Amino acid sequence: MDKDLVPFWEKSYQEDDTIAFSDQPNTTITEFEHLLHMQSKVLEAGCGEGQNAVYLAQKGYQVDAFDLSEHGIAKLKRRCEQSNAQVNAFVADLTTYQFKQYYDMILCFGTLHFVDKDGWKRFISNAKEYTNIDNMK
Ligand SMILES: C[S@@+](CC[C@H](N)C(=O)[O-])C[C@H]1O[C@@H](n2cnc3c(N)ncnc32)[C@H](O)[C@@H]1O
Repeated sequence: MDKDLVPFWEKSYQEDDTIAFSDQPNTTITEFEHLLHMQSKVLEAGCGEGQNAVYLAQKGYQVDAFDLSEHGIAKLKRRCEQSNAQVNAFVADLTTYQFKQYYDMILCFGTLHFVDKDGWKRFISNAKEYTNIDNMK
């Protein structure tokens, strides 16, 4: 992404009464959620203001979520406080992200096309390596 351009969602991320994209979880999550078990660990990269992360945390999963946007992560943390959800939310760049643990599901919606090919290829390769494949239902 061009560092000099401020994307439109940054304004929404700073406001609590507007939603940048949706207040509902992505339909892919509701489609594949049945594959998770109650102790599942989920990572969302490029989580934005956190509608997916909050939804999954409210369901009881252990959720880590990061985004490049400080405003996005701050809003996600505010949403967690308001909804009593537990999300480990932090600012990070997916192109340099270092995995520290394995996950049962790794999510990334509407984000990979904002980074260059080397960046998303590296992230996907690492995400595959750090996805549990023998722990699903
Ligand atoms: C179109 S928004 C989608 C947000 C969210 N995934 C959703 O579906 O609502 C793209 C998001 O990707 C984030 N992003 C862009 N480049 C990133 C990077 N290199 N690492 C992490 N997040 C990034 C932006 O800050 C923004 O929150």
